[in-house]
Amino acid sequence: MNQYKVVMTGRLMTPALERIQETCEVKLWEKAESIPHETLVDWLKDAEGLVVTGDIQVNEELLQYAPKLKVIAQSAVGYDNVDTEACTRHGILFGNTPGVLVETTADLAFSLLLCAARRIHEGWNFVREGSWNRGSKISLGIDLAGKTLGIVGMGQIGVAVAKRAKVFGMNVIYYNRNRRLDDHETGATYQSFDAVLAQADCMIVLTPLSKETRGLFGASQFAQMKRTAYFVNMSRGPVVDTNALFDALQTGKIAYAALDVTDPEPLPGDHPLLTLSNILITPHIGSATQETRTAMSQLTADNLLAGLNDKPLPACVNAK
Ligand code: GLV
Repeated sequence: MNQYKVVMTGRLMTPALERIQETCEVKLWEKAESIPHETLVDWLKDAEGLVVTGDIQVNEELLQYAPKLKVIAQSAVGYDNVDTEACTRHGILFGNTPGVLVETTADLAFSLLLCAARRIHEGWNFVREGSWNRGSKISLGIDLAGKTLGIVGMGQIGVAVAKRAKVFGMNVIYYNRNRRLDDHETGATYQSFDAVLAQADCMIVLTPLSKETRGLFGASQFAQMKRTAYFVNMSRGPVVDTNALFDALQTGKIAYAALDVTDPEPLPGDHPLLTLSNILITPHIGSATQETRTAMSQLTADNLLAGLNDKPLPACVNAK
């Protein structure tokens, strides 16, 4: 029975999609490129539910075209693309997917750090281009044991990263808006942002994107870091000033960067960052495992269906 009208700007995993389709009439945008604004506006005019993807800006302007909307669900923990205050003004609940992606995202953060520290991709490129038997000129990596890891943004994922770092024998320091009351559990030490910049041998950035964190890492921050520092960004691209990062890597202000997020995103194939050898970039795959994407899709469906049925959302950002 197609009780509710729902718009989806991208796919969820099939079991979650089928669950939604059991009770909803779904308009689903399946193409790789973003749904055109005019199509979205047209589809939204009678929609009660929206499953939105991170490429869509949900703001006052868009919501004016959606007079019947009750609930928006996004399969992500970050929601910098969504004006949640505008949602609240329009009486629309917004749900995200915290919790279910914590371990997976921490795994990728730590994988990037390990790959960076051991210069895995330079080694792999060297082998693949057939240079192995021509004398090794690959850069030496660094040991993680005994090094100081700075974590900027100590939410659940930061805690999971800190636990991994401890197992690898690292000393962990962190900066967060507030000190965590449970930091004795990971042994991570709270420091000022400047102290983390100055002391970290390796840095993992996990902070959400907000007015306060946009451009948090610029030329002056890279200048304060150790010239030997390894820098990993797992948060959102605009937390880092891309030009400043390019300059820091090119001029040796820091040693290496591994990024799962970039600005712009996707990164064009001819972007200057791709000309550097001391960089590793993955295409925003922090949560991209079968199990985690399945769990995120199910939580997204739970949020959507709860909102449509006037029930509390299991993970609501702007609960009444
Ligand atoms: C991914 O970036 C997320 O916010 O879940």
